[in-house]
Amino acid sequence: MSRSLTVAVCGATGAVGREMLKTLHEREFPATSIIPLASSRSVGMKVPYGEDVELVVRELKEDSFEGVDLALFSAGGGTSLKFAPHAVAAGCVVVDNSAAWRMDERCPLVVPEVNADHLEEHRGIIANPNCSTIQMVVALKPLHDAAKIRRIVVSTYQAVSGTGQKAINELETQVRQLFSMRDPEVNVYPHRIAFNVLPHIDVFLENDYTKEEMKMVHETVKIFADPSVKVTATCVRVPVFYGHAESVNIETEKKITPRDARAILATAPGVQLYDNPQEKMYPMPLDAAGEDMTFVGRIREDETIPNGLNLWIVADNIRKGAALNAVQVAEELLRRDLLRVPDADRDLFLD
Ligand code: A2P
Repeated sequence: MSRSLTVAVCGATGAVGREMLKTLHEREFPATSIIPLASSRSVGMKVPYGEDVELVVRELKEDSFEGVDLALFSAGGGTSLKFAPHAVAAGCVVVDNSAAWRMDERCPLVVPEVNADHLEEHRGIIANPNCSTIQMVVALKPLHDAAKIRRIVVSTYQAVSGTGQKAINELETQVRQLFSMRDPEVNVYPHRIAFNVLPHIDVFLENDYTKEEMKMVHETVKIFADPSVKVTATCVRVPVFYGHAESVNIETEKKITPRDARAILATAPGVQLYDNPQEKMYPMPLDAAGEDMTFVGRIREDETIPNGLNLWIVADNIRKGAALNAVQVAEELLRRDLLRVPDADRDLFLD
């Protein structure tokens, strides 16, 4: 017998929250009730659920989760830390898009195409990885399985939508201001983003890497469940609205030719090969925006080492990098009959 499911979307007025609602509707997630939650600022506001339905936003509170089966969170790390434990205490399974729970040993970090089996261990909170990590592991896991990746060197070209709606607005406003010969206002990023490139995402750490870069390092190891994989990253914000691109260099234990890699990726789940440079065919954010797949192209041998490959990986950071991945996790939980909090774990995340 199918269950009647109540689903809450926390952060429903934001860029990812809206995409979560859209994705739940498009993929016909079997919810009988959807509850959009946001801050007190947005109470009464309407958000679309499909073409014909508008839902009225309620305030996210500690007691918002009575009778809720599943909550998709995308309202920032602080909000997740504060409210997700109360959701779990009410018996609601949380899929969290923030960084708050990703490295917590109690929380699986899941990309369904890569490590869906980690869901079997969940205790109430499942973390969605960082957008840049998700698209990279979707493309690299099949190569890791075939040839064992020893080292990954990645440079990202990340769209402003990853920072949220306010950054989308800021890029648009700055472009308008510059074209009307006005000084652009700089509020969201430390420098102007219009017609610029910022090698700075999230805060700088003691080792001079940014937190975003170290997320790619640690999350990849957790998702692959393989501490032997070495990752080094440079994360860069570019003036693109939707779609992250990544230049990725890998060194493998076993030799893998570009031809082998293309054959493997041609059938890999969630991957679409788009690699015909002679015809000027390679993935670009413009084409990836609004799509579900992770696109891979520019596959070529790294001629400086015996077992090396270069790849170019592009995906929609709001869809596969956030909302879609969260909904796929929810679908997988349902398929595996795991959409419940074990009774013994209800208080696990409360202080
Ligand atoms: P609100 O619009 O009411 O501020 P984005 O990542 O696009 O900036 O969106 C962030 C989302 O997180 C928004 O829906 C925002 O709601 C929500 N949010 C931020 N802080 C809180 C909070 N303290 N409580 C509930 N929702 C929050």
